[in-house]
Amino acid sequence: MKLVIIGLGYVGLANVAYLVSHGQKCVVAFDCDEAKISSLKANHFPFKEPALNDVLRKECKKVVYTSDAKDITDADAYFLAVGTPNKEDGTADLSFLNNAVDTIEKVSKGSRIVIRSTVPVGTAKKLKDRLSGFSIISMPEFLAEGRSYEDESSPYRIVVGAEASADFEFVRNLRKNDVNNGVPFYYMSNESAELTKYASNIFLSMKISYVNEMARLAEALGADITDVALAMGADPRIGHAMLKAGLGYGGSCFPKDGMALLETASKENLSLLLPQAAAAINVSQPLYFFKKIEKRFPTLSGVKIALLGLAYKAGTSDLRNALSLVLAKLFLAKGAALSAYDPSEGARKAFAQAYPSIQLFANKDDALKGADALVIVTEEGEFAQLDETTLLKEMNGRVIFDGRNLYLPRHFHYFEYISIGRAPTKPDIE
Ligand code: UDX
Repeated sequence: MKLVIIGLGYVGLANVAYLVSHGQKCVVAFDCDEAKISSLKANHFPFKEPALNDVLRKECKKVVYTSDAKDITDADAYFLAVGTPNKEDGTADLSFLNNAVDTIEKVSKGSRIVIRSTVPVGTAKKLKDRLSGFSIISMPEFLAEGRSYEDESSPYRIVVGAEASADFEFVRNLRKNDVNNGVPFYYMSNESAELTKYASNIFLSMKISYVNEMARLAEALGADITDVALAMGADPRIGHAMLKAGLGYGGSCFPKDGMALLETASKENLSLLLPQAAAAINVSQPLYFFKKIEKRFPTLSGVKIALLGLAYKAGTSDLRNALSLVLAKLFLAKGAALSAYDPSEGARKAFAQAYPSIQLFANKDDALKGADALVIVTEEGEFAQLDETTLLKEMNGRVIFDGRNLYLPRHFHYFEYISIGRAPTKPDIE
């Protein structure tokens, strides 16, 4: 069977890795970016995805990386994993997807197209209307960055939208391993599968915004949001996942998918109140945090702030919608002097492009030198293990702002500790 994956971002590469590690002898991995293909051929991977990179390296003989359309002729199925970024008006930009379909039309007279990209509801139908001889399968992915291979190979569920039972059977055969492992398969229309993806992502983002809003109330009432969320999550109907209060969600999926869903609904003259509120809370969450910083430092001009964590979440190099970008803008507008650190070199490079004037360090202790306050922006493991002796040695001031609630409020003895949804604490040793 000839299988072609088009679009080699983390979704496409996780697809390739899954297929070659689950019985496929050969998979053709296509991307029009020739530089990307050259580095993939040399087993250089663009993302910090240890499990994905290991599998691709191990199985490299089974993968044909190419940007030559001749290599993708007459496949049994084409998997679309191209990006669908937002345009300025919030609608999804489908130009990469349309280009991929143009290419497929040139190299195949009829086949299966499996859409793994996140696409507006109705996209599969439009493709069906446009193409003859092709069947269109909607099979949304539910991968989190940094663990895309793990999520692809151990999914909570497989969602398949199609018309013909042969297409459902095709996916079931490809994913025999999941069938054997008891992973539930949900067969539905293309539209339902497309909507399932958005409805799931927006639900997760709503959980985060809900706990963040509760955090503001907890703080006002003298409660501790970490205790509240822990006890809430113990109810399996609620669950612990996505209940960590903090600076809010960033990344390429939650903010983008939220906007795209609202745009889809507004075309139907529907106003979706909960997703709207989740997005609005998320925008205001870093502002709420920044107000706490301004309360403590009414004049930020000249105050030295060390920012720890630049990527949109721990363990990635991706800066899309990163909270570090929002905070840096707020600090710079008030004249603060910033130093910054992230363990990922890629994240530091991307941040340097956005804010060339901010001093960046490849080591967190260097970033802390002379700082009046430190601000934790992401949930990196190393930020949860700060050593007070080092902090005392490197920093000038004794204030920690924790945007991810990585410590118990009484953890520090020499530092003032200000987090989210919990009472601030003063040092107990001067
Ligand atoms: C998410 C979904 O998890 C995944 O299923 C979907 O396919 C794509 O979107 P991702 O964006 O990679 O994946 O990251 P995730 O780990 O879910 O975190 C998203 C953002 O939410 C991060 O900025 C993270 O810091 C934040 N977050 C997450 C919280 O603020 N609180 C939480 O409890 C969890």
